Amino acid sequence: MARQKKQKADRAYYTFMLLMLSVVLVFAFGLMIGKQNNPQEAETVQKSVTVPKDNLTENKTITASDTETVSSTQQAQKETVPEFKQATSFWSENSHIYLRVNHEKQLELKTVANFDLSDAVYNVNDTNIASIDKSGMLTGLTKGECTITVSCNEETLHIPVTVRELTVMDGCTYVDGILIANKTYGMPETYDPGMLPETEQAFNALQADAKDLGLNIYESSGYRTYQYQISVYKSMCDAYGEDYACMYSARPGYSEHQTGYTVDCNSIDNTFAETAEGQWLADNCHNYGFIIRYPEGKEDITGYAYESWHIRYVGIEAATEIYEQGLTLEEYLDVESVHVHVEGDGETADSETNLSETVPTENIPEEPIINSIAPEENITPVESFADAPLDAPI
Ligand code: DAL
Ligand code: ZN
Repeated sequence: MARQKKQKADRAYYTFMLLMLSVVLVFAFGLMIGKQNNPQEAETVQKSVTVPKDNLTENKTITASDTETVSSTQQAQKETVPEFKQATSFWSENSHIYLRVNHEKQLELKTVANFDLSDAVYNVNDTNIASIDKSGMLTGLTKGECTITVSCNEETLHIPVTVRELTVMDGCTYVDGILIANKTYGMPETYDPGMLPETEQAFNALQADAKDLGLNIYESSGYRTYQYQISVYKSMCDAYGEDYACMYSARPGYSEHQTGYTVDCNSIDNTFAETAEGQWLADNCHNYGFIIRYPEGKEDITGYAYESWHIRYVGIEAATEIYEQGLTLEEYLDVESVHVHVEGDGETADSETNLSETVPTENIPEEPIINSIAPEENITPVESFADAPLDAPI
């Protein structure tokens, strides 16, 4: 009897507990539904969230009238994206900074009238790659990519930075894998690769596409050995003097034609720039991996006068960046191009030429001079530059 009574009491207890649990569950479910349907509550979740736009940040306050809802992903973004306005009062003329390891570069900023940058704060997002001081002096530390941030008066500016590394292999100098030949960096006499297949293929593609458009682009001068460049340079010196020659012609060992990456196109004078072929080449050669190596207005940087006909293969990615940012190869690789006197290379110590201080480019009678050295058959090879007297007739 007592056992029956206990069983009855247990059953009543379990039934009661089950009932309570059901009530709790129904209540919780009801709360959830209510929250989802309540616009007032949803609005309180939608606070000021900064969303990235075109690599920069823009403050966007999402209000209740916005149709988008703030997801948990967007909430997470708020923590990682800095809440700065895109700078409109100050800017950099360089959309990208290229800098070598252990090199310094002063960040040059422009401002709207009366904007005071003295409170600007400079930061680098990866301090292993580069550092920046309070005055905006940037130093390359290790090869890689990082971003500079300049903040002032709640505005901010982001500039990507590439830090490059220079290496020397078998007497040739490479910056991030790109062979550099200019007045500072030369190649040994033994560097004799011939015209490289990548240059040839790219030039053939360029030539074929130009032809489809009715344009005739042809190679006037391509690969030159160290020995051949002796003749080219000497001929120029003999005809026009050394100061003039070194504005257009490289000393042996310093010519881009010895790299195997260079082609001179068509007439080898700057009338070419005015032709349909010259204009198409300037606008399109980057699509094939070439750059106009010695652009107009950059003579003091490249060390050479404007040569609309001389193209250099650097690969499509580099060529496109150089073209789009209006750079020279020197600026892109952060190298200089200044003639350094080397004992025994046959030139005189006072031959260094500052292009801006000598003959203005527009006064140079380009055509007859350049044409006189271009066809290889017109040049008498000499044994070595050091042996060849500079005043010898061509
Ligand atoms: N004309 C260029 C500078 C060369 O001789 O390589
Ligand atoms: Zn050339």
